[in-house]
Amino acid sequence: EVLPAQYSSGLQQMRSAARAAIIEMFEAANKEGYLLYANSTYRSYSEQSATYDYWVRQNGKEYADRTSARPGHSEHQLGTTADVGWSGCELECTIGSPEAAWIAANSYRFGFIVSYPDGKESITGYAAEPWHVRFVGKDVAQQVVNSGLTLHEFLLR
Ligand code: DAL
Ligand code: ZN
Repeated sequence: EVLPAQYSSGLQQMRSAARAAIIEMFEAANKEGYLLYANSTYRSYSEQSATYDYWVRQNGKEYADRTSARPGHSEHQLGTTADVGWSGCELECTIGSPEAAWIAANSYRFGFIVSYPDGKESITGYAAEPWHVRFVGKDVAQQVVNSGLTLHEFLLR
């Protein structure tokens, strides 16, 4: 289902429950002065393939494999995942920002987990992505936070 234009850059679609939750999160962030939006959400296999190939062309295969999933292996293909940005600040631009800190601290309250936290590349396989959140529901998100594990470890435990 399509996200409201005010919370999207380009046409963005997510599964219904994830869409409702991200709108709730963006409304809460908005009240605190953080004007968040989704800049990449659901990707088909061919879109993920194009995304991966783009990063290979831009920065080489080694970099692409640390930052982009191969087609068939991306959380973006689930329709429950979003890359969050604000005011044209997207992807690497978000690292170290107050908005990223807000997402890290609050996204679980809306059922989202930051899949690839800083310092966990050896576990998750990906460099830090403070902008990339995956919807797992509020109960599971709370359990992941309580566990102190990455989502990757939590799902495999
Ligand atoms: N950037 C993340 C790892 C993805 O491509 O799903
Ligand atoms: Zn992402």
